[in-house]
Amino acid sequence: MYRNTFNDQIVRLFLLAAAVWGVIGMSVGVFAAAQLAWPALNTDIAWLAFSRIRPAHTFGVIFAFGGSALMGTCYYVVQRTGHTRLALEKLAHFTFWGWQLACVLALVTVPLGITQSKEYAEPEWLIDLLIAVVWVSFGTVFFATLARRRIQHIYVANWYYGAFIIAVGLLHIVNNLAVPVSLTKSYPIYSGVVDAMVQWWYGHNAVAFFLTAGFLGMMYYFVPRQAQQPLWSYRFSIVNFWALISVYMWAGSHHLLYTALPDWVQSVGMAFSLVLLMPSWGSAANGLLTFNGSWHKVKTDPAAKFMVVALVFYAASTFEGSMMAIKSVNSLSHYTDWTVAHVHSGSIGWVAMITIGSLYAMAPRALGRPAMHSAAAMELHFWLHTSGLLLYVISMWIAGVTAGVMWRATLPDGTLAYSFLASLEAVKPFYVIRFIGGLMVVSGMVVMAWNLWHTAAQARARLIVPIPIPVPEPVAHQMPMPLPAAG
Ligand code: HEM
Ligand code: HEM
Repeated sequence: MYRNTFNDQIVRLFLLAAAVWGVIGMSVGVFAAAQLAWPALNTDIAWLAFSRIRPAHTFGVIFAFGGSALMGTCYYVVQRTGHTRLALEKLAHFTFWGWQLACVLALVTVPLGITQSKEYAEPEWLIDLLIAVVWVSFGTVFFATLARRRIQHIYVANWYYGAFIIAVGLLHIVNNLAVPVSLTKSYPIYSGVVDAMVQWWYGHNAVAFFLTAGFLGMMYYFVPRQAQQPLWSYRFSIVNFWALISVYMWAGSHHLLYTALPDWVQSVGMAFSLVLLMPSWGSAANGLLTFNGSWHKVKTDPAAKFMVVALVFYAASTFEGSMMAIKSVNSLSHYTDWTVAHVHSGSIGWVAMITIGSLYAMAPRALGRPAMHSAAAMELHFWLHTSGLLLYVISMWIAGVTAGVMWRATLPDGTLAYSFLASLEAVKPFYVIRFIGGLMVVSGMVVMAWNLWHTAAQARARLIVPIPIPVPEPVAHQMPMPLPAAG
């Protein structure tokens, strides 16, 4: 009944942006992977150096690709679960253009060397201000839409989206407090160990609330939708929500183990990281068990396949994270590619796959089409992505453990058994395998962009062909129907 009254134009814009940024951000990642495998690719061109390409990759995939997918699905979900149209639509359009502008500015300035050198918060103060304004606007649209919902209950996906919006706003503003000295340079108000602590409180909770809570919101809406089953346990999803948001904030110091941070702060981070496994596995189990009774879909429906593998990698990467937070394990994994394996099992496995599954579920509905243009292309994408992911993660696990073990090996006289160069030579083949895996993941993203483009083209063609519509007698109690029924 409410279908034609939703604002899906904004959803389609974010969908398009997510597909484009996904291809760009991950291609930059493949280039960074090539630079590590073949260092000669680091030429004299400063803006193409690995040190500048790497933050361009992380900003591109996390904020441009992930952010666009999160904002688009958030607008889609809050309208459906609230049975209402988006509030403050002009402001919603501002959030789209503002976010895209911030992403373009960040991806131009960071390679130019204009950066405040804080990981995952590289852009300088002017861009940070723009991001803050866009984010507050995004929150205003979301909560105003929630306030005008037509049913009393607030579906759990909105709790996760709400926490994501509030926490990311808070993290962004506190971590980026700085004193500008010119248009392109500022200095943080924090210094020394306090600066490190604030930065990793931010960095870790960017993982928690941007890369986890937001995508859990996506999962809690699209998994039951695709499985065509109610959530396995609604009550469990709420318990996990409160557990997740109360525990995550305390775990950031596991990024600074064996540093100048007070020892007890490091131990608090380690302890909370272990507790964090419970709500993480709780959500993963809830999502997977929702497929009970629908497991046959995993055979036939590529979107469901993406979601199931995403949930498995969510469980795997959080287990790995909790283990890596144990000080003795971290003494081996830190500084090695094991961390990079963990990051990408979380990001290519969990984040990208839940996004792709949800986009495949959402796109036909948002475009008013019965299905995606090509199911075969979705299937191809699934296999390219999953094989690329496995090549990436397994090669980096082996590279990480190999380097870690070589660095700590000593001879009977106490001297190091291997030089740093020897460890680099040992891991080089795995860098080549990672590059191939990345190439497969990006190829899959190109297939998805092609498929979306054709699905959208069909939707456009359908809008252009004039369809004779019988004009019904107006009935006073009906809701206005501005467009002919889609799909
Ligand atoms: C085609 C897929 C991808 C490739 C080839 C790729 C490649 C890379 C490379 C080469 C690095 C630098 C590693 C190093 O410094 O040693 C990196 C870092 C990183 N990437 Fe990716 N990446 C891909 C996808 C993604 C996605 C989808 C995300 C997030 C949604 C992501 C998030 C990150 C993060 C957060 C880091 C920093 C890791 C750290 O500090 O330990 N990547 N990536
Ligand atoms: C229970 C959940 C998790 C815990 C306890 C955890 C723990 C950890 C630990 C201990 C590290 C290594 C820190 C270091 O040695 O420098 C780490 C790094 C990282 N993790 Fe996780 N992790 C979890 C889930 C995730 C997920 C789901 C993602 C991505 C979607 C993720 C993304 C990252 C990133 C990007 C880094 C690298 C940060 C950097 O050094 O730049 N983590 N995590």
